[in-house]
Amino acid sequence: MKFFIDTANLNEIKEAYDLGVLDGVTTNPSLMAKEGIAGKEKVMAHYKAICNIVDNNVSAEVIATDFEGIIKEGKELAKIDDKIVVKVPMIKDGIKAIKKFSSEGIRTNCTLVFSPGQAILAAKAGASYLSPFIGRLDDISQDGLEFIAQVRLIYDNYGFGTEILAASIRHSMHVIKCAEIGADVVTCPLSVITALLNHPLTDSGLAKFLADHKKLTRKNSRFKIRN
Ligand code: E4P
Repeated sequence: MKFFIDTANLNEIKEAYDLGVLDGVTTNPSLMAKEGIAGKEKVMAHYKAICNIVDNNVSAEVIATDFEGIIKEGKELAKIDDKIVVKVPMIKDGIKAIKKFSSEGIRTNCTLVFSPGQAILAAKAGASYLSPFIGRLDDISQDGLEFIAQVRLIYDNYGFGTEILAASIRHSMHVIKCAEIGADVVTCPLSVITALLNHPLTDSGLAKFLADHKKLTRKNSRFKIRN
């Protein structure tokens, strides 16, 4: 299972990369705006800065929504670095563009996916990654994890090569359930990645180990002084 971080914040990306478990980064226009990154040059430079931190898989989203615009923008993004994956929205022209990108060897991430029909179209068009948004489905009382399971079944039925990149992840149980279902990738905020580290028994167990070690060290040093 691959781990991506869902942010455009360079410090968070560095922190996750330093953990040694990071396989990529996903961004979107809202996350770029959150960092105050606006204007073509600054956006391009920011993607390059992200690519300089991680080893591969940096999703950079197009803003255009028409075929020609998506192709032009996607090609510019892909030129920034070999690590770039062009993120394209699940719309009619987006599907056409994904087909063209895939025939030209440009990797794509089909985003804003909420139904099995959309997942089939993206795979047929040759998307490298599919981004089903779990949290946003949960928000409207639809089962996001059930959707991931449906897509897993469909992709396995036909041997589609598109990787399921579970997105809009809100908590660590989403990650664990995605792993059980067999999502290929999860993209999550840093807080969700670090939350996976935590267990109260780890904390209390470690505290006891360290306390016992300290007691013994004190005892031994007293013994040495007397002798
Ligand atoms: C990732 O590719 C998506 O853009 C992101 O996970 C959306 O998450 P949100 O629903 O928390 O905004």
